[in-house]
Amino acid sequence: MGLNNESRLRKLEHVDVVLKERVEGPNTTWFEYVFLVHQASSEIPLSIVNIETSFLKKVLKAPLIITGMTGGAPGTEEINGKLAEAAEKFGIALGVGSQRAAVEDPGVEQTFRIVREYAKNVPVIGNIGAHEFVRYDLDKISKLIEMINADALAVHLNLTQEVAQPEGTPDFSGLMSKVRLYTREFSTPLMIKEVGQGLSYEVVKELSEAGVKIFDVAGAGGTNWVLVEKYRARKKNDKLKELIAENVADWGIPTAASIIEARRAAPESVIIGSGGIRSSVDAVKALRIGADLVGLAAPVLRAYYGGYLEEFLQAFIHGIKALVALTGSKDLNELRRKPVVITSILREWLACRGFSV
Ligand SMILES: Cc1cc2nc3c(=O)[nH]c(=O)nc-3n(C[C@H](O)[C@H](O)[C@H](O)COP(=O)(O)O)c2cc1C
Repeated sequence: MGLNNESRLRKLEHVDVVLKERVEGPNTTWFEYVFLVHQASSEIPLSIVNIETSFLKKVLKAPLIITGMTGGAPGTEEINGKLAEAAEKFGIALGVGSQRAAVEDPGVEQTFRIVREYAKNVPVIGNIGAHEFVRYDLDKISKLIEMINADALAVHLNLTQEVAQPEGTPDFSGLMSKVRLYTREFSTPLMIKEVGQGLSYEVVKELSEAGVKIFDVAGAGGTNWVLVEKYRARKKNDKLKELIAENVADWGIPTAASIIEARRAAPESVIIGSGGIRSSVDAVKALRIGADLVGLAAPVLRAYYGGYLEEFLQAFIHGIKALVALTGSKDLNELRRKPVVITSILREWLACRGFSV
């Protein structure tokens, strides 16, 4: 079997495992240590709450992005098409999954290109793993952007997953110099994202000094790729890899801590809070502690397969508006000035890291 087929099948296996197995945790997001204060007499009617947010020179109706998941395999054209249709309808941003399969086999480009048939006005983000990003020449990188007329290109740092993956390639050497080259040569912004272990202050600081202005923290507490790899290894009867995955499954920076770290490291950058955002309450907490927008992956996929994608997004966005009103705020700027209570482990984490609470 050629590499093309292998990487395509892997994408399908990932979707299957995410839908069927328990792949979240064992860490939590630490949003349970963050509280916003309910204001019972708020006189802000929902009709005047404005949660619009500008992102990549476009205005989103809600501070939301469906983060990169799929493309490149049979059946993924339909998923990406439906996600794009929903993103356009609700005025939110959309990422595609790793475009590596389409670089290796242009025959599957349409599974990515489809997003632009629907998402005509909202930002669309391309995607490639750091391992490939370092190795691709500038022509190949341009192709990723052109394929979907991307508003930004996301490079995902999935080192923990690579370590735990049967066919993984845990080697990012050359990353920083390639990021510097990219930010010099390309006008399309670069986004750096994790995939479930979170971005630290140090990583965000170094990359922002290299010219990156958008970070998606994808912290621990949501979809855990090490657990995804554990179940894949189990299916293949690869006991060694299954045990390796189990041994590192609780590695990572919980999402709430990662958002605060990223915001401290890059005060002027766009910070996307993601990784285990499962309710509108999680979302407003993320927006209050430093996120400009929030990202969702697995819950959107489950809603798509469950046949309730639009209701899911409508309820989620309605919930954000309602909670902004319940803090006594008219918009996200006001929300960000409202009191926040940070307790317990998260408070200790911030103190140990030398951040004022
Ligand atoms: C089925 C699936 C496939 C994914 N594929 C990619 C990918 O190709 N590239 C990427 O950067 N992240 C990928 N992710 C990671 C998500 O973008 C996100 O960072 C992560 O799942 C955490 O968000 P969540 O807890 O809301 O799922 C994928 C996630 C899921 C659920």
